[in-house]
Amino acid sequence: MNFLRIKPLDAIMASARRNALEPTLGAWQLTLLGVGAIIGTGIFVLTSEAAQKAGPGMVISFVIAAFVCATAALCYAEVAAMIPVSGSAYTYTYAVMGEVMAWLVGWALVLEYAVSASAVAVGWSGYFVGQLHGWFGITLPMALTQGPYAGGLINLPAVTISLLITWLLMIGTSESARVNAMLVGVKVTALALFVILSIPAMRAENFHPLMPLGWASGDGAGVVSAASSIFFAYIGFDAVSTAAEETKNPQRNVPLGLIGSLVICTVFYMLVAAGAIGSPLGAQPVMSATGHWLAPGSAELAARCAAIVGGGAVEPLACSNEALAHVLREIGYMKLGNLVGLAAFVALPSVILVMIYGQARMFFVMSRDGLLPARLSRIHPKWKTPHIITMITGTGVALGSAFLPVGKLADMCNAGTLFAFVAVAIALMVLRRTDPGRARPFRTPLVWLVGPLTILGCLILYLRLPFDAKMVLPIWGGIGLLLYFAYGYRHSLMGRGVVEVHETDIIAPPVPGTH
Ligand code: ALA
Repeated sequence: MNFLRIKPLDAIMASARRNALEPTLGAWQLTLLGVGAIIGTGIFVLTSEAAQKAGPGMVISFVIAAFVCATAALCYAEVAAMIPVSGSAYTYTYAVMGEVMAWLVGWALVLEYAVSASAVAVGWSGYFVGQLHGWFGITLPMALTQGPYAGGLINLPAVTISLLITWLLMIGTSESARVNAMLVGVKVTALALFVILSIPAMRAENFHPLMPLGWASGDGAGVVSAASSIFFAYIGFDAVSTAAEETKNPQRNVPLGLIGSLVICTVFYMLVAAGAIGSPLGAQPVMSATGHWLAPGSAELAARCAAIVGGGAVEPLACSNEALAHVLREIGYMKLGNLVGLAAFVALPSVILVMIYGQARMFFVMSRDGLLPARLSRIHPKWKTPHIITMITGTGVALGSAFLPVGKLADMCNAGTLFAFVAVAIALMVLRRTDPGRARPFRTPLVWLVGPLTILGCLILYLRLPFDAKMVLPIWGGIGLLLYFAYGYRHSLMGRGVVEVHETDIIAPPVPGTH
């Protein structure tokens, strides 16, 4: 009896071989897929939040978050190239630590995929509102564009974009590879434009004081705390590993796609952060009238920002909902600032699409293993999509985006993602010990340093998350465990002794943006 219910790697590989997905992706397309999933609300919106938490020291926060992601990417690269199947961290964990842990990792990935989709929707909403104002002079009532956290009622633009994309995914309109490449081009061009315009205008004195709130203060500010939040800007590179089944020569191309997309984004982020800090706005945190630090996403900060702007002063970077566009406008590039805003407005929905799709696909794999009811991932006869699970996912995403601030959603998402990264690092090291003979087309260099460093880095970032985001993980995990014992434990195909399950399997839908 397999008490832990570890799914033998050979069985996973055999079922992967039987999978009907056509391998079509090369290294370049994977890199584009990665960059497409990575660049989003993190850099376009959360730069303000990083400034509020770290001041100009946010540039160091970007380095810290990139470092943790790089070590995690190296772990992902070996495992993903070795086990090129759908399900990513969930599947690797199934093979190494067994079903309960795999379920918990899959469950935590809901935080990564679905909650990040909510966060990006809220980020997009900020740019939507800014665009309406910038181009047409229309100001929407705050009650309908912000959640209760900022004195509004509901974030209607965020809800609308979430539901619209869900509907597109349900009826099967996946982005074509060309559209995806175009949107990646739009985002990269916008960031490049930002760098070209902002770096020459940089004022060195803006970097002083560099770390007004230190490394890590008790109230959740500081450079390391900002790194925990800005980590969100890098999330998405693991989307590359979920496409391993559709990749030509995955052993070579998956590691290239993972590391390539991360390197490209890191370089951009460093330059963008430097440009934003050096602009006339600066990046010093906004303090209360009595000199106290105010947490991002809080009603207090929103009120303070409103008071500053109401008093006729320029809106500080930390208050802006469309950070990059705002910086350019302040340097004097009104039209180009609006254009960068337009680029974010056009391109951010593709991140929402990839994330909702990734979530539906994760549920799809879990229900293929019997841990979720099979009818949830039923394929629509005409649309050929898992419409039920997509609809449930999209509704959850819309609800999250309706009422929560972007920073809180991002922090929740970070908690789940950090947990998944730790699981991958553990899987990597355990497999080195238990299955040393298996072919490893990509070997993580210095694995006994990189593996533990990944775990340590993730732990540090997790511990610096705000208290509520930290608590989301155990609470969410507890709910997951209840569900597992109420349903998955009894219905699991592994538990029922069925290991090879894909003979009559429905064909999984392709990754959007890749065909
Ligand atoms: N990294 C993605 C973003 O910043 C999730 O939007």
